[in-house]
Amino acid sequence: MPPMNVLSVASEAFPLIKTGGLADVVGALPAALAAEGIQVRTLLPGYPAVLAALNDDAVRTPLPPLFGFHAAILAGRARGLDLLVLECPALYARTGGPYLGPDGQDWADNAQRFAALAQAALAIAQGALADWRPDILHAHDWQAGLAPAYLTFHGITDVRSVMTVHNLAFAGKFPPTLRETLGLPPEALSPLGGVEFYGTISMLKAGLRYADRITTVSPGYAAEIVTTEFGMGFDGLLRERGTVVSGILNGIDTAEWNPATDPHLEARFEAGHWAARARNKAAMQARFGLTPDPDAPLFAVVSRLTWQKGLDLLRAALPALLAEGAQLAVLGTGERALEMGFKDAAAAHPGRVGCVIGYNEALAHLMQAGADAQLVPSRFEPCGLTQLYALRYGAVPVVARVGGLGDTVIDASPMALAAGVATGVTFAGPTEVSLRLALHRAARLYRDRPAWRRLQLNGMATDVSWRGPARSYAALYRGLIR
Ligand code: ADP
Ligand code: GLC
Repeated sequence: MPPMNVLSVASEAFPLIKTGGLADVVGALPAALAAEGIQVRTLLPGYPAVLAALNDDAVRTPLPPLFGFHAAILAGRARGLDLLVLECPALYARTGGPYLGPDGQDWADNAQRFAALAQAALAIAQGALADWRPDILHAHDWQAGLAPAYLTFHGITDVRSVMTVHNLAFAGKFPPTLRETLGLPPEALSPLGGVEFYGTISMLKAGLRYADRITTVSPGYAAEIVTTEFGMGFDGLLRERGTVVSGILNGIDTAEWNPATDPHLEARFEAGHWAARARNKAAMQARFGLTPDPDAPLFAVVSRLTWQKGLDLLRAALPALLAEGAQLAVLGTGERALEMGFKDAAAAHPGRVGCVIGYNEALAHLMQAGADAQLVPSRFEPCGLTQLYALRYGAVPVVARVGGLGDTVIDASPMALAAGVATGVTFAGPTEVSLRLALHRAARLYRDRPAWRRLQLNGMATDVSWRGPARSYAALYRGLIR
């Protein structure tokens, strides 16, 4: 196979900058693709955390100004990633998150911040770096969505593009008055044009319209997004482009998430080492102020607290969970009402419900190792990584049967139990009623110790690595440049 160069363009990459699963994927896929003979370089905005992690001998290539601001590409390495960092202090040198300022509001210049990222990708595709040009430009989510459009508008045909949708709910919408500023031709905003979305400019739509291939992060979500129910207004375009749309399931970084070596655990363990695993449960109960009861089923949630994740349903179903004699530990940040809801629940049920509001990577690992079950009652879920971590750590996933959740968890139906293949509990909906039934089923299974151990062992034996998915991406890329 000839060597192949891929430019991955994204706004997050673990361990440098992360708000969710996008970062985990962008951070882990390059190593898996290297095993397929594909060199991936990842283009990231020069946020302070990214620049700080970059090795000292990074090579600087100046770019023409972006939106009138000084800009350059820094080529270097950081935490195992081969990076191209867009240095543009006027756009990225700030304290705050990648998308939101300290006041919790979107940065006012997000259109320029992410259009600049796409323009840097274009420059690299046009040969801005002396010694490297990509064969494939792989754009992730709306923040990179303009990149395939810029390739098209600039007539670049020898760099093919792939747009991966991690979440259709984030359309990257901006006022149409920005068209010229963003360097888009008038036809881009014509009714059938590429980036027009209900009277706005949508950077996600730009990617969906102009990329040579569209992927999303599970086959289940790929099937859902062409329906009006899940399509978020993009379903028509996705149906029209149906022949280039596919779903490739996410993997996880099995070195970063390995219960046998994980530095964040109280006790490291392998499948079958249940006593060691129980020490993590005890540590987790202590951390969340829960009664140190080894026999109470301990349910965990590690999640952004948003409508997508269905956690309002869990809040409503809490009495049913407690009636099973179960405990609940929640780690998350997000919508105020949900944060308050779980804090109040913890106050109302001391020893039974615990809640940590915040972002804590180490605690997320401990929760996978200590919880008996991970709850993911999402209303929609493009892939979901927490249930994959749960499988690997012997925490039985209890998940809504949507998107990637349905693709990755085998429900403990009588048939699957009899066949010995079940890995978790899945439920339709999701509604509060279906969730309550699932909690009841999970608690009953938990008390059937041999059945529960079987679920844990099956989960831990599931291949959740990037090996298979990386092969699918490699085949997709090769198909494009053949
Ligand atoms: P999404 O990307 O929609 O948030 P995923 O399940 O794909 O959902 O990925 C979520 C990622 O973010 C996982 O790595 C999970 O462990 C992590 N995560 C979410 N919330 C927190 C938190 N409060 N603290 C630590 N890690 C979190
Ligand atoms: C998004 C989705 C999530 C997916 C992640 C990584 O944030 O919400 O389901 O696992 O991206 O692809």
